[in-house]
Amino acid sequence: MHPNTVMLAVVLLGNLMLPFTTAQNEPKINASDQIILSVDSPKPVTLVCNLTTAHTPHKESFWMKNGQEISNTRTEHANTAYRINKPRADDSGEYMCVYTFETAPNANATIEVKATPAITGHKRSENKNEGENAMLYCKSVGYPHPTWTWRKVDGTSYTEIDNSTGRVFITNRDNYTELNIVNLDINTDPGVYECNATNAIGNTAQTTILRVRSNLAPLWPFLGVLAEIIILVVIIVVYEKRKRPDDILDDDEPAGPMKTNSTNNHKDKNIRQRNTK
Ligand SMILES: *[C@@H]1O[C@H](CO)[C@@H](O)[C@H](O)[C@H]1NC(C)=O
Ligand SMILES: *[C@@H]1O[C@H](CO)[C@@H](O)[C@H](O)[C@H]1NC(C)=O
Ligand SMILES: *[C@@H]1O[C@H](CO)[C@@H](O)[C@H](O)[C@H]1NC(C)=O
Ligand SMILES: *[C@@H]1O[C@H](CO)[C@@H](O)[C@H](O)[C@H]1NC(C)=O
Ligand SMILES: *[C@@H]1O[C@H](CO)[C@@H](O)[C@H](O)[C@H]1NC(C)=O
Ligand SMILES: *[C@@H]1O[C@H](CO)[C@@H](O)[C@H](O)[C@H]1NC(C)=O
Repeated sequence: MHPNTVMLAVVLLGNLMLPFTTAQNEPKINASDQIILSVDSPKPVTLVCNLTTAHTPHKESFWMKNGQEISNTRTEHANTAYRINKPRADDSGEYMCVYTFETAPNANATIEVKATPAITGHKRSENKNEGENAMLYCKSVGYPHPTWTWRKVDGTSYTEIDNSTGRVFITNRDNYTELNIVNLDINTDPGVYECNATNAIGNTAQTTILRVRSNLAPLWPFLGVLAEIIILVVIIVVYEKRKRPDDILDDDEPAGPMKTNSTNNHKDKNIRQRNTK
């Protein structure tokens, strides 16, 4: 064989080997599959990562949730586990085990922990005057982040709400939704509003009652007092009108059954007064 051919073969072989050898040097992590939390009947879950191959000995490992290191999870073992004893929707998220090495970059594996969203904040009611603006919101925990919808509930029927009326605006962030209604209409806007969070695992909803008061409402206490005064005046006037003719009759009428009655009444009154003394 020609020496050049041998050289060529060696170079070719080297090039072919190169990706293979680097791939073999890459650390390999065997991690748990994704986990779906059943929040209704919580069972402990354990996330596991095993470092199966590594180019150099690893230093230590730790766990992260949503990009933040979880404290007190650093160990020196090649196999590491993170246990959630009583899983709640809040515990769902993107978990990651990270291995550190003396002379090589970190290696990591991601485990998705998913749960039905739970709404952790909303208004029970919102009370406004007509013409004012209302702001309703809902916020959630639960991974993956939900898609949000709003509807106005009327008994068993409902109307989906969107931006199309020009008076209602919905803004959504990952785990937060806000419904703004401007220039409140006392005829169409009061009612029960429901926010609905839906992700791949499930959905959940919460309601807010929106009350809209008439602009005359602040006048009502004043009108009440006014009505009381009017009623009092009417009673006094009527009483006076009925009393005066009686007195006149009493004075003018000669002795008779009526007169006796009224004197008896006076006597009764005197007795009663004496008794109370
Ligand atoms: C990874 O772990 C699973 C068990 O959880 C096992 O069946 C599988 O063989 C492991 N793979 C490797 C490459 O170690
Ligand atoms: C990790 O290793 C442990 C024992 O060393 C084994 O029981 C477990 O199934 C492994 N899990 C994975 C995901 O490789
Ligand atoms: C996880 O590994 C990827 C490359 O596989 C790297 O880009 C990323 O920065 C690592 N993340 C952490 C938190 O170590
Ligand atoms: C909502 O999501 C943001 C980022 O997407 C995060 O910073 C915040 O902690 C989350 N809040 C809740 C209650 O999950
Ligand atoms: C509704 O309108 C608001 C404000 O103009 C905007 O930020 C939002 O993205 C709109 N929402 C939808 C679902 O179109
Ligand atoms: C929430 O919305 C989803 C998707 O539109 C629907 O299937 C579900 O019935 C709604 N849930 C509630 C409680 O309204």
